[in-house]
Amino acid sequence: MGKPTQKEKARYQLLRQKLLDTYKGYFDGPLSQLTATQVDHTLHRWETLYPALLKPTRHAVLLNTFHGAPYFQAQSSESTNPKLGGSLDENLRDVNLEDSGEVSPPEPLEDAGRWLPPSCPLKLYHLPQQETHSSKDYLLPPPSKNSHDLKNYYCLDFASVFPVLALDVHPGHTILDMTAAPGGKTLTLLNHLGNSLVPAAGINASSSSPPSTIQTKLHVNEIDFQRRKRLRVVLDEHVPANLLPSTSSPNSVIQITGKDATEASSFRPGAYDRILLDAPCSSERHVLHQLHKQESASNLHKDLLNWSPSSSEKIAKGLQLKMLTTAVRALKFGGTLVYSTCSLSPHENDNVIENVVNLIDKQNRRRIKEVSRRRDADPGSENDGEEDARQPRKPPQTAFPELWTLEIDHTSWSIGEPTKHGWMILPDQQDNAGWGPIYFCKLTKQRKKGSRS
Ligand SMILES: C[S@@+](CC[C@H](N)C(=O)[O-])C[C@H]1O[C@@H](n2cnc3c(N)ncnc32)[C@H](O)[C@@H]1O
Repeated sequence: MGKPTQKEKARYQLLRQKLLDTYKGYFDGPLSQLTATQVDHTLHRWETLYPALLKPTRHAVLLNTFHGAPYFQAQSSESTNPKLGGSLDENLRDVNLEDSGEVSPPEPLEDAGRWLPPSCPLKLYHLPQQETHSSKDYLLPPPSKNSHDLKNYYCLDFASVFPVLALDVHPGHTILDMTAAPGGKTLTLLNHLGNSLVPAAGINASSSSPPSTIQTKLHVNEIDFQRRKRLRVVLDEHVPANLLPSTSSPNSVIQITGKDATEASSFRPGAYDRILLDAPCSSERHVLHQLHKQESASNLHKDLLNWSPSSSEKIAKGLQLKMLTTAVRALKFGGTLVYSTCSLSPHENDNVIENVVNLIDKQNRRRIKEVSRRRDADPGSENDGEEDARQPRKPPQTAFPELWTLEIDHTSWSIGEPTKHGWMILPDQQDNAGWGPIYFCKLTKQRKKGSRS
Protein backbone atom coordinates (compact mmCIF):
# COMPACT_ATOMS: atom_id res chain seq x y z
CA MET A 1 0.00 0.00 0.00
CA GLY A 2 1.48 3.36 -1.07
CA LYS A 3 1.36 6.60 0.88
CA PRO A 4 -2.29 7.61 1.51
CA THR A 5 -3.59 10.67 -0.31
CA GLN A 6 -5.21 13.59 1.55
CA LYS A 7 -8.63 12.35 0.37
CA GLU A 8 -7.96 8.84 1.68
CA LYS A 9 -6.76 10.27 4.98
CA ALA A 10 -9.90 12.41 5.34
CA ARG A 11 -12.16 9.41 4.59
CA TYR A 12 -10.20 7.38 7.10
CA GLN A 13 -10.66 9.98 9.85
CA LEU A 14 -14.38 10.12 9.14
CA LEU A 15 -14.71 6.34 9.32
CA ARG A 16 -12.62 6.24 12.48
CA GLN A 17 -14.96 8.69 14.18
CA LYS A 18 -18.00 6.74 12.97
CA LEU A 19 -16.52 3.54 14.36
CA LEU A 20 -15.91 5.12 17.79
CA ASP A 21 -19.41 6.62 17.82
CA THR A 22 -20.88 3.22 16.93
CA TYR A 23 -19.00 1.49 19.75
CA LYS A 24 -20.03 4.21 22.18
CA GLY A 25 -23.63 3.87 20.97
CA TYR A 26 -23.74 0.24 22.15
CA PHE A 27 -23.66 1.63 25.68
CA ASP A 28 -26.45 4.17 25.15
CA GLY A 29 -28.84 1.38 24.25
CA PRO A 30 -29.64 -1.95 25.84
CA LEU A 31 -26.19 -2.52 27.36
CA SER A 32 -26.38 0.62 29.48
CA GLN A 33 -29.29 -1.00 31.32
CA LEU A 34 -26.84 -3.45 32.86
CA THR A 35 -27.07 -3.61 36.62
CA ALA A 36 -23.38 -2.92 37.09
CA THR A 37 -22.39 -2.75 40.72
CA GLN A 38 -18.72 -1.91 40.37
CA VAL A 39 -19.01 0.98 37.94
CA ASP A 40 -19.49 4.63 38.82
CA HIS A 41 -22.80 5.54 37.21
CA THR A 42 -22.34 9.24 37.69
CA LEU A 43 -20.24 8.90 34.52
CA HIS A 44 -21.44 7.65 31.19
CA ARG A 45 -20.37 4.01 30.97
CA TRP A 46 -18.25 4.61 27.86
CA GLU A 47 -16.08 7.06 29.79
CA THR A 48 -14.81 4.31 32.07
CA LEU A 49 -14.89 1.57 29.47
CA TYR A 50 -13.05 3.27 26.60
CA PRO A 51 -9.75 3.89 28.45
CA ALA A 52 -9.92 0.37 29.90
CA LEU A 53 -10.37 -1.08 26.39
CA LEU A 54 -7.37 0.87 25.09
CA LYS A 55 -5.01 -0.73 27.60
CA PRO A 56 -3.26 -3.95 26.55
CA THR A 57 -5.30 -7.12 27.11
CA ARG A 58 -4.55 -8.42 30.58
CA HIS A 59 -3.49 -12.03 30.71
CA ALA A 60 -3.66 -14.78 33.27
CA VAL A 61 -1.54 -17.90 33.52
CA LEU A 62 -3.33 -21.24 33.33
CA LEU A 63 -1.15 -23.92 34.91
CA ASN A 64 -1.22 -27.01 32.75
CA THR A 65 -2.60 -30.03 34.62
CA PHE A 66 -1.00 -32.36 32.09
CA HIS A 67 2.48 -31.00 32.76
CA GLY A 68 2.48 -32.24 36.33
CA ALA A 69 2.61 -35.77 37.62
CA PRO A 70 -1.14 -36.36 38.18
CA TYR A 71 -2.06 -37.22 34.61
CA PHE A 72 0.80 -39.64 34.16
CA GLN A 73 0.07 -41.28 37.51
CA ALA A 74 -3.58 -41.63 36.66
CA GLN A 75 -3.19 -45.37 36.79
CA SER A 76 -2.34 -45.21 40.48
CA SER A 77 -5.08 -44.99 43.07
CA GLU A 78 -3.79 -41.84 44.87
CA SER A 79 -4.02 -39.50 41.93
CA THR A 80 -7.66 -38.54 41.75
CA ASN A 81 -7.14 -34.79 41.94
CA PRO A 82 -6.06 -33.25 38.65
CA LYS A 83 -4.94 -30.01 40.38
CA LEU A 84 -1.33 -29.00 40.13
CA GLY A 85 0.04 -28.39 43.56
CA GLY A 86 2.41 -25.59 44.53
CA SER A 87 2.66 -21.92 43.69
CA LEU A 88 3.48 -20.51 40.29
CA ASP A 89 6.98 -19.79 41.59
CA GLU A 90 7.42 -23.46 42.49
CA ASN A 91 6.07 -24.56 39.13
CA LEU A 92 8.40 -22.20 37.35
CA ARG A 93 11.42 -22.93 39.54
CA ASP A 94 13.30 -24.87 36.86
CA VAL A 95 13.34 -21.90 34.52
CA ASN A 96 16.75 -20.32 34.19
CA LEU A 97 16.12 -16.61 34.70
CA GLU A 98 19.79 -15.74 34.25
CA ASP A 99 19.47 -16.23 30.48
CA SER A 100 16.34 -14.18 29.99
CA GLY A 101 17.99 -10.73 29.82
CA GLU A 102 15.38 -8.01 30.36
CA VAL A 103 12.86 -10.40 31.88
CA SER A 104 12.13 -9.71 35.50
CA PRO A 105 11.89 -12.73 37.79
CA PRO A 106 8.34 -13.75 38.65
CA GLU A 107 7.09 -11.97 41.71
CA PRO A 108 4.42 -13.79 43.66
CA LEU A 109 1.40 -13.47 41.40
CA GLU A 110 -2.17 -13.08 42.57
CA ASP A 111 -3.93 -16.44 42.72
CA ALA A 112 -7.14 -16.16 40.65
CA GLY A 113 -8.78 -18.88 42.74
CA ARG A 114 -10.96 -16.45 44.69
CA TRP A 115 -12.90 -15.60 41.52
CA LEU A 116 -13.50 -19.23 40.62
CA PRO A 117 -16.23 -21.55 41.95
CA PRO A 118 -14.92 -23.65 44.89
CA SER A 119 -15.17 -26.94 42.95
CA CYS A 120 -13.23 -25.58 39.96
CA PRO A 121 -10.05 -27.65 39.43
CA LEU A 122 -8.29 -24.96 37.34
CA LYS A 123 -5.18 -23.26 38.69
CA LEU A 124 -4.85 -19.68 37.44
CA TYR A 125 -2.69 -16.66 38.34
CA HIS A 126 -3.21 -13.05 37.29
CA LEU A 127 -0.46 -11.19 35.48
CA PRO A 128 -0.34 -7.45 36.25
CA GLN A 129 -2.07 -5.04 33.86
CA GLN A 130 0.44 -3.41 31.47
CA GLU A 131 -0.30 0.31 31.32
CA THR A 132 0.87 0.91 27.74
CA HIS A 133 1.36 -1.25 24.66
CA SER A 134 5.07 -0.46 24.55
CA SER A 135 5.73 -1.20 28.21
CA LYS A 136 7.47 -4.46 28.99
CA ASP A 137 7.36 -4.06 32.73
CA TYR A 138 6.39 -7.64 33.32
CA LEU A 139 7.41 -10.67 31.30
CA LEU A 140 7.10 -14.27 32.32
CA PRO A 141 9.98 -16.63 31.83
CA PRO A 142 9.30 -19.02 28.95
CA PRO A 143 7.28 -22.11 29.88
CA SER A 144 9.29 -25.10 31.05
CA LYS A 145 8.72 -28.52 29.50
CA ASN A 146 8.41 -31.86 31.26
CA SER A 147 9.93 -35.14 30.11
CA HIS A 148 6.96 -35.61 27.73
CA ASP A 149 7.66 -32.21 26.14
CA LEU A 150 4.50 -30.64 27.60
CA LYS A 151 4.59 -27.00 28.67
CA ASN A 152 3.73 -25.96 32.22
CA TYR A 153 1.47 -22.98 31.48
CA TYR A 154 -0.60 -21.15 28.87
CA CYS A 155 -1.47 -17.42 28.87
CA LEU A 156 -5.03 -16.32 28.21
CA ASP A 157 -7.57 -13.63 29.01
CA PHE A 158 -8.96 -14.60 32.44
CA ALA A 159 -12.48 -13.69 31.23
CA SER A 160 -12.33 -16.42 28.59
CA VAL A 161 -12.31 -19.10 31.31
CA PHE A 162 -15.92 -18.27 32.29
CA PRO A 163 -17.76 -19.50 29.15
CA VAL A 164 -15.93 -22.82 29.68
CA LEU A 165 -17.01 -22.95 33.34
CA ALA A 166 -20.58 -22.20 32.26
CA LEU A 167 -20.48 -25.22 29.95
CA ASP A 168 -20.38 -27.44 33.04
CA VAL A 169 -18.54 -30.38 31.52
CA HIS A 170 -18.50 -33.78 33.22
CA PRO A 171 -16.69 -37.05 32.59
CA GLY A 172 -18.50 -39.13 29.99
CA HIS A 173 -19.80 -36.13 28.04
CA THR A 174 -19.52 -35.91 24.28
CA ILE A 175 -18.40 -32.32 23.74
CA LEU A 176 -18.10 -30.14 20.64
CA ASP A 177 -15.82 -27.08 20.56
CA MET A 178 -17.20 -25.69 17.31
CA THR A 179 -14.77 -22.85 16.50
CA ALA A 180 -11.68 -23.72 18.45
CA ALA A 181 -8.52 -21.97 17.19
CA PRO A 182 -6.13 -20.87 18.58
CA GLY A 183 -7.25 -23.12 21.42
CA GLY A 184 -7.31 -21.22 24.75
CA LYS A 185 -10.81 -22.41 25.59
CA THR A 186 -10.11 -25.95 24.33
CA LEU A 187 -7.13 -26.13 26.68
CA THR A 188 -9.21 -24.76 29.57
CA LEU A 189 -11.85 -27.41 28.86
CA LEU A 190 -9.23 -30.16 28.78
CA ASN A 191 -7.65 -28.93 32.00
CA HIS A 192 -11.06 -28.85 33.62
CA LEU A 193 -11.63 -32.50 32.68
CA GLY A 194 -8.07 -33.47 33.68
CA ASN A 195 -7.69 -37.09 34.70
CA SER A 196 -11.19 -38.08 33.66
CA LEU A 197 -9.88 -38.02 30.08
CA VAL A 198 -7.67 -41.06 30.67
CA PRO A 199 -9.01 -43.58 28.15
CA ALA A 200 -10.75 -46.49 29.85
CA ALA A 201 -8.57 -48.97 27.97
CA GLY A 202 -5.46 -47.21 29.24
CA ILE A 203 -6.18 -47.76 32.91
CA ASN A 204 -3.63 -50.02 34.47
CA ALA A 205 -4.89 -53.44 35.56
CA SER A 206 -3.20 -52.92 38.94
CA SER A 207 -5.35 -49.84 39.65
CA SER A 208 -7.58 -50.15 42.69
CA SER A 209 -10.26 -47.98 41.08
CA PRO A 210 -12.54 -49.78 38.61
CA PRO A 211 -12.00 -48.91 34.96
CA SER A 212 -14.32 -46.21 33.73
CA THR A 213 -16.81 -47.40 31.14
CA ILE A 214 -17.99 -43.91 30.18
CA GLN A 215 -15.48 -42.24 27.94
CA THR A 216 -15.37 -38.47 27.54
CA LYS A 217 -15.09 -37.39 23.89
CA LEU A 218 -14.01 -33.95 22.68
CA HIS A 219 -14.63 -32.93 19.07
CA VAL A 220 -12.54 -29.87 18.26
CA ASN A 221 -13.46 -28.01 15.06
CA GLU A 222 -11.87 -25.11 13.18
CA ILE A 223 -12.52 -24.26 9.52
CA ASP A 224 -9.37 -22.24 8.81
CA PHE A 225 -6.45 -24.47 7.82
CA GLN A 226 -3.66 -22.22 9.14
CA ARG A 227 -5.51 -21.61 12.43
CA ARG A 228 -6.24 -25.33 12.74
CA LYS A 229 -2.50 -25.99 12.37
CA ARG A 230 -1.80 -23.45 15.14
CA LEU A 231 -4.47 -25.14 17.30
CA ARG A 232 -2.81 -28.53 16.77
CA VAL A 233 0.53 -27.05 17.88
CA VAL A 234 -1.09 -25.65 21.06
CA LEU A 235 -2.62 -29.07 21.78
CA ASP A 236 0.64 -30.93 21.03
CA GLU A 237 2.49 -28.59 23.39
CA HIS A 238 0.09 -29.01 26.32
CA VAL A 239 -1.88 -32.25 26.03
CA PRO A 240 -0.61 -35.85 26.28
CA ALA A 241 -0.09 -37.42 22.86
CA ASN A 242 -2.28 -40.43 23.65
CA LEU A 243 -5.35 -38.17 23.85
CA LEU A 244 -4.71 -36.69 20.41
CA PRO A 245 -5.52 -38.21 17.01
CA SER A 246 -2.71 -39.84 15.06
CA THR A 247 -2.45 -42.40 12.29
CA SER A 248 -1.99 -45.12 14.92
CA SER A 249 -4.92 -43.92 17.11
CA PRO A 250 -7.68 -42.54 14.87
CA ASN A 251 -10.30 -43.09 17.62
CA SER A 252 -8.60 -40.89 20.20
CA VAL A 253 -10.43 -38.99 22.97
CA ILE A 254 -9.90 -35.75 21.03
CA GLN A 255 -10.98 -35.49 17.38
CA ILE A 256 -9.98 -32.51 15.22
CA THR A 257 -11.99 -31.49 12.14
CA GLY A 258 -12.21 -28.55 9.73
CA LYS A 259 -15.97 -28.42 9.15
CA ASP A 260 -17.99 -25.32 8.28
CA ALA A 261 -20.00 -24.49 11.41
CA THR A 262 -22.58 -22.58 9.37
CA GLU A 263 -23.59 -25.81 7.61
CA ALA A 264 -26.28 -27.82 9.39
CA SER A 265 -24.93 -31.04 7.83
CA SER A 266 -21.46 -30.58 9.38
CA PHE A 267 -22.40 -32.17 12.74
CA ARG A 268 -24.66 -35.12 13.56
CA PRO A 269 -28.05 -33.89 14.89
CA GLY A 270 -28.60 -34.47 18.61
CA ALA A 271 -25.09 -35.93 19.07
CA TYR A 272 -23.52 -33.71 21.76
CA ASP A 273 -24.06 -33.26 25.51
CA ARG A 274 -22.12 -29.99 25.51
CA ILE A 275 -21.34 -27.47 22.76
CA LEU A 276 -19.14 -24.41 22.99
CA LEU A 277 -19.71 -21.89 20.20
CA ASP A 278 -17.11 -19.16 20.62
CA ALA A 279 -18.21 -17.29 17.52
CA PRO A 280 -16.08 -15.13 15.22
CA CYS A 281 -17.07 -11.55 15.98
CA SER A 282 -16.22 -7.87 15.58
CA SER A 283 -13.58 -8.03 18.38
CA GLU A 284 -13.79 -4.30 19.06
CA ARG A 285 -10.99 -4.26 21.64
CA HIS A 286 -8.67 -5.89 19.11
CA VAL A 287 -9.73 -3.34 16.45
CA LEU A 288 -8.97 -0.46 18.84
CA HIS A 289 -5.52 -1.93 19.55
CA GLN A 290 -4.84 -2.39 15.83
CA LEU A 291 -5.91 1.20 15.13
CA HIS A 292 -3.53 2.41 17.80
CA LYS A 293 -0.66 0.27 16.45
CA GLN A 294 -1.14 1.25 12.80
CA GLU A 295 -1.61 4.93 13.53
CA SER A 296 1.49 5.13 15.71
CA ALA A 297 3.34 3.82 12.63
CA SER A 298 1.52 6.49 10.51
CA ASN A 299 -0.39 3.82 8.58
CA LEU A 300 -4.08 3.47 7.86
CA HIS A 301 -5.68 0.40 9.37
CA LYS A 302 -6.84 -1.54 6.26
CA ASP A 303 -9.75 -3.34 7.96
CA LEU A 304 -11.29 -0.01 8.91
CA LEU A 305 -11.71 0.84 5.22
CA ASN A 306 -14.00 -2.22 4.88
CA TRP A 307 -15.95 -1.41 8.03
CA SER A 308 -19.42 0.14 8.08
CA PRO A 309 -21.84 0.87 10.93
CA SER A 310 -23.97 -2.08 9.76
CA SER A 311 -21.04 -4.59 9.77
CA SER A 312 -21.90 -5.90 13.22
CA GLU A 313 -25.59 -6.47 12.46
CA LYS A 314 -24.60 -8.27 9.24
CA ILE A 315 -22.31 -10.76 11.06
CA ALA A 316 -24.95 -11.26 13.73
CA LYS A 317 -27.83 -12.01 11.37
CA GLY A 318 -25.66 -14.06 9.00
CA LEU A 319 -22.64 -16.01 10.26
CA GLN A 320 -23.40 -16.02 13.99
CA LEU A 321 -27.09 -16.91 13.74
CA LYS A 322 -26.32 -19.70 11.23
CA MET A 323 -23.65 -21.15 13.54
CA LEU A 324 -25.92 -21.02 16.57
CA THR A 325 -28.73 -22.72 14.65
CA THR A 326 -26.29 -25.49 13.63
CA ALA A 327 -25.18 -25.82 17.27
CA VAL A 328 -28.78 -26.15 18.55
CA ARG A 329 -29.45 -28.87 16.00
CA ALA A 330 -26.32 -30.81 17.01
CA LEU A 331 -27.18 -30.63 20.74
CA LYS A 332 -28.88 -33.51 22.59
CA PHE A 333 -32.13 -32.90 24.45
CA GLY A 334 -31.18 -31.84 27.97
CA GLY A 335 -27.75 -30.80 26.64
CA THR A 336 -26.07 -27.45 27.28
CA LEU A 337 -24.75 -24.97 24.77
CA VAL A 338 -22.66 -21.89 25.53
CA TYR A 339 -22.61 -19.12 22.95
CA SER A 340 -19.79 -16.63 23.48
CA THR A 341 -18.11 -13.71 21.72
CA CYS A 342 -15.53 -11.07 22.57
CA SER A 343 -17.79 -8.39 21.04
CA LEU A 344 -19.23 -5.30 22.70
CA SER A 345 -22.12 -5.18 20.25
CA PRO A 346 -25.59 -6.16 21.49
CA HIS A 347 -26.32 -7.28 17.89
CA GLU A 348 -23.71 -10.03 18.23
CA ASN A 349 -24.63 -10.95 21.81
CA ASP A 350 -28.17 -10.80 23.24
CA ASN A 351 -29.77 -10.18 19.85
CA VAL A 352 -28.32 -13.40 18.39
CA ILE A 353 -29.85 -15.31 21.33
CA GLU A 354 -33.20 -13.59 20.79
CA ASN A 355 -33.05 -14.31 17.05
CA VAL A 356 -32.31 -18.02 17.49
CA VAL A 357 -35.14 -18.42 20.02
CA ASN A 358 -37.53 -16.69 17.60
CA LEU A 359 -36.28 -18.77 14.70
CA ILE A 360 -36.90 -22.01 16.59
CA ASP A 361 -40.42 -20.86 17.55
CA LYS A 362 -41.09 -20.04 13.92
CA GLN A 363 -39.80 -23.45 12.80
CA ASN A 364 -42.00 -25.16 15.40
CA ARG A 365 -45.09 -23.27 14.25
CA ARG A 366 -44.30 -24.10 10.62
CA ARG A 367 -43.92 -27.80 11.40
CA ILE A 368 -47.19 -27.94 13.35
CA LYS A 369 -48.98 -26.13 10.52
CA GLU A 370 -47.50 -28.53 7.99
CA VAL A 371 -48.72 -31.58 9.96
CA SER A 372 -52.21 -30.05 10.40
CA ARG A 373 -52.36 -29.31 6.68
CA ARG A 374 -51.43 -32.93 5.83
CA ARG A 375 -53.97 -34.29 8.33
CA ASP A 376 -56.72 -32.14 6.85
CA ALA A 377 -55.80 -33.23 3.34
CA ASP A 378 -55.57 -36.93 4.25
CA PRO A 379 -57.42 -37.72 7.51
CA GLY A 380 -57.10 -41.49 6.86
CA SER A 381 -53.34 -41.34 7.35
CA GLU A 382 -53.83 -41.29 11.11
CA ASN A 383 -53.73 -44.78 12.54
CA ASP A 384 -57.22 -45.45 13.93
CA GLY A 385 -56.34 -48.97 15.05
CA GLU A 386 -58.16 -50.73 12.18
CA GLU A 387 -55.48 -51.47 9.68
CA ASP A 388 -56.39 -52.74 6.27
CA ALA A 389 -54.15 -55.78 5.83
CA ARG A 390 -54.40 -55.46 2.02
CA GLN A 391 -53.02 -51.90 2.02
CA PRO A 392 -49.36 -51.20 2.70
CA ARG A 393 -48.96 -49.22 5.94
CA LYS A 394 -48.62 -45.48 5.28
CA PRO A 395 -45.51 -43.78 6.59
CA PRO A 396 -46.31 -41.70 9.71
CA GLN A 397 -46.22 -38.41 7.84
CA THR A 398 -48.79 -36.82 10.09
CA ALA A 399 -47.31 -37.90 13.44
CA PHE A 400 -46.88 -34.90 15.69
CA PRO A 401 -43.34 -33.60 15.04
CA GLU A 402 -40.59 -33.49 17.62
CA LEU A 403 -40.34 -29.85 18.63
CA TRP A 404 -37.75 -28.23 20.79
CA THR A 405 -37.24 -25.10 22.78
CA LEU A 406 -34.26 -23.32 24.33
CA GLU A 407 -34.08 -22.42 28.01
CA ILE A 408 -31.81 -19.54 28.97
CA ASP A 409 -29.78 -19.96 32.15
CA HIS A 410 -29.40 -16.87 34.39
CA THR A 411 -26.59 -17.98 36.73
CA SER A 412 -24.54 -15.13 38.25
CA TRP A 413 -20.75 -15.22 38.17
CA SER A 414 -18.12 -13.71 40.46
CA ILE A 415 -16.86 -11.32 37.78
CA GLY A 416 -18.89 -9.41 35.20
CA GLU A 417 -22.51 -8.36 35.06
CA PRO A 418 -25.81 -9.59 33.65
CA THR A 419 -27.17 -8.52 30.29
CA LYS A 420 -30.72 -9.12 29.08
CA HIS A 421 -30.06 -12.81 28.28
CA GLY A 422 -26.45 -13.52 29.15
CA TRP A 423 -23.39 -12.37 31.06
CA MET A 424 -20.73 -9.80 30.16
CA ILE A 425 -17.19 -9.34 31.46
CA LEU A 426 -15.75 -5.92 30.63
CA PRO A 427 -12.30 -4.51 31.46
CA ASP A 428 -13.57 -1.58 33.56
CA GLN A 429 -15.27 -3.93 36.04
CA GLN A 430 -13.81 -5.14 39.36
CA ASP A 431 -11.94 -1.84 39.78
CA ASN A 432 -10.58 -1.78 36.24
CA ALA A 433 -9.24 -5.32 36.46
CA GLY A 434 -8.69 -5.33 32.69
CA TRP A 435 -10.33 -8.67 31.71
CA GLY A 436 -12.56 -9.15 28.70
CA PRO A 437 -14.64 -8.24 26.83
CA ILE A 438 -16.37 -11.60 26.91
CA TYR A 439 -20.09 -12.15 26.47
CA PHE A 440 -21.61 -15.56 27.06
CA CYS A 441 -25.04 -17.11 27.33
CA LYS A 442 -25.84 -20.63 28.48
CA LEU A 443 -28.74 -22.42 26.77
CA THR A 444 -30.35 -25.81 27.39
CA LYS A 445 -32.26 -27.64 24.68
CA GLN A 446 -35.56 -29.13 25.84
CA ARG A 447 -38.39 -31.02 24.19
CA LYS A 448 -41.37 -28.74 23.79
CA LYS A 449 -44.35 -29.98 25.79
CA GLY A 450 -46.86 -31.84 23.66
CA SER A 451 -44.33 -32.81 21.02
CA ARG A 452 -43.56 -36.43 20.19
CA SER A 453 -41.17 -37.95 22.75
C1 LIG B 1 -13.29 -16.31 18.40
S1 LIG B 1 -12.32 -17.40 17.48
C2 LIG B 1 -12.27 -18.83 18.53
C3 LIG B 1 -11.30 -18.68 19.67
C4 LIG B 1 -11.09 -19.99 20.41
N1 LIG B 1 -12.34 -20.53 20.91
C5 LIG B 1 -10.13 -19.80 21.57
O1 LIG B 1 -10.58 -19.67 22.72
O2 LIG B 1 -8.93 -19.82 21.32
C6 LIG B 1 -13.43 -17.93 16.24
C7 LIG B 1 -12.88 -19.00 15.30
O3 LIG B 1 -13.92 -19.41 14.42
C8 LIG B 1 -13.33 -19.79 13.20
N2 LIG B 1 -14.39 -19.83 12.16
C9 LIG B 1 -14.84 -18.79 11.41
N3 LIG B 1 -15.82 -19.21 10.59
C10 LIG B 1 -15.98 -20.54 10.82
C11 LIG B 1 -16.85 -21.53 10.29
N4 LIG B 1 -17.72 -21.23 9.32
N5 LIG B 1 -16.76 -22.79 10.76
C12 LIG B 1 -15.88 -23.11 11.74
N6 LIG B 1 -15.03 -22.20 12.28
C13 LIG B 1 -15.08 -20.94 11.84
C14 LIG B 1 -12.29 -18.71 12.99
O4 LIG B 1 -11.33 -19.14 12.05
C15 LIG B 1 -11.75 -18.52 14.39
O5 LIG B 1 -10.61 -19.30 14.60
